[in-house]
Amino acid sequence: MPSLDTIAPDAQAAGQGHLLAAAERLEGDARDAFVAQLDAIDFAQVPTWIERYVRAVEPEGVPASLEPAPYYPNDPTNASNPWDEDKYRDIGTGLIRAGKVACFTVAGGQGSRLGYDGPKGCYPAGCVTNKPLFQVFAEGIRSTSHRYGAPVPWYVMTSPLNHDATVAFFVEHAHFGLDPADVMFFPQGTMPSLDKDTGRILLASDRTVATNPDGHGGAIRALAESGAVEDMQRRGVEHVSYFQVDNPHAKVADPVFLGLHAGAPNSSGEFSSKMVAKSSWDEKVGVFCKADGRCRVIEYSDLPESLAKQTRQDGSLRFNAGSIAIHAISIDFIGKLASDAAYELPFHRAVKKVSHVEPDTGEPVEPAEPNAVKLERFIFDAIPLAGSSIVYETDRVEEFAPIKNATGSDSVETSRALQTERAARWLEAAGVKVPRHADGSVNACIEIGAMTALDADHLRAHDRLPDAIEPGAKVAL
Ligand code: UTP
Repeated sequence: MPSLDTIAPDAQAAGQGHLLAAAERLEGDARDAFVAQLDAIDFAQVPTWIERYVRAVEPEGVPASLEPAPYYPNDPTNASNPWDEDKYRDIGTGLIRAGKVACFTVAGGQGSRLGYDGPKGCYPAGCVTNKPLFQVFAEGIRSTSHRYGAPVPWYVMTSPLNHDATVAFFVEHAHFGLDPADVMFFPQGTMPSLDKDTGRILLASDRTVATNPDGHGGAIRALAESGAVEDMQRRGVEHVSYFQVDNPHAKVADPVFLGLHAGAPNSSGEFSSKMVAKSSWDEKVGVFCKADGRCRVIEYSDLPESLAKQTRQDGSLRFNAGSIAIHAISIDFIGKLASDAAYELPFHRAVKKVSHVEPDTGEPVEPAEPNAVKLERFIFDAIPLAGSSIVYETDRVEEFAPIKNATGSDSVETSRALQTERAARWLEAAGVKVPRHADGSVNACIEIGAMTALDADHLRAHDRLPDAIEPGAKVAL
């Protein structure tokens, strides 16, 4: 068991004596538990974090020579950049059939914008059925496994703040029909939240340090330390299909994308990404760029407006490759990132509101303004560390229906409209009549579950489709 005496010198040296005083005020189990929380903090690093992210905040900036990243266009017959979609579908299908692909979902976020009381994956997303996000993916994985005749294990990264609730949700729903042996949950790491003026680590209560999950980039370390990488190696998994918990349209394992990732001549097969064309110059998505010969994602807030607004001859945006946070990553590359300090992903700071208690008085504080620095790592910072990272364009309606906010853009409302639109397109491609309003929007609410079809081709092969959808109907297929 860690002792306060061992921790004290480093904590004092890091200017965090208030934590020691808080520990002294506790007794018994509460004190032991608090000391264990302190023991998990890397106090040797705290002064560097304060210096770099609290005191001397340098703008993240962008490399001088920024160009748009090249990408495989969604239309493989594209005149200026044709490519052989069938060949790569075959390669990707071969990988899935051989059991070399696992799904990996990052679900450790706090979902503060959505304001939902529970893990985001439990959120009712299905536009007709209200299916929770986790069920949408579980069915996608079951259907993929049936379609290709191979097990597709699923790794779900939680955080210490939502791990138990997530696991309990799966147990309660019998893992949505998946074999529990093929679903592995592991929590990501956390970082202490720092007071934005003093750099002091905040206390969530008299016996709890205020912490935040260490970002989706924390996945690299968590995958390695949890034993997930070892488990994948034991199963013969070579690549993970990475997606976020809040995008019900993410294809859980896309053969074409996996084939490009593993087989394209300009891919090192380490870290590949999907993009969609940005909807406007100021859409809040990261953009795939190239700098110093390497692909990277520049966050929307860092891309200078002058570049973001640049257009090509046909009027389309020059920097149009919006990141939708879908990646294919090799297990070898994850191992390399996790084991070599030279490949450690950097931290980014976010200033957020964090409720806390005053360390001296125990008075609760509900800040009206952002008061805390949270430190997070981003998974896409691994892209420039890969030998050669490729980008594949996909269709926005097909693959991007995120649920980030309670209302407005990227909310459950917009996601549900996109679910209906995608379902309508698949049905129309299969010859089913779908009622549409004069403005083209669908006059119905339609949800197609992954057990029915994973994509339009899959649906076309279905033998029991209706001839038409009734106007105004709510239909779940
Ligand atoms: P977001 O950046 O949208 O964050 O996460 P969030 O925590 O879900 O929501 P807000 O910003 O508090 O409103 C994108 C994806 O990355 C995961 C989330 O669960 C989501 O799938 N994520 C984010 C993690 O797994 N861990 C983190 O520390 C942060």
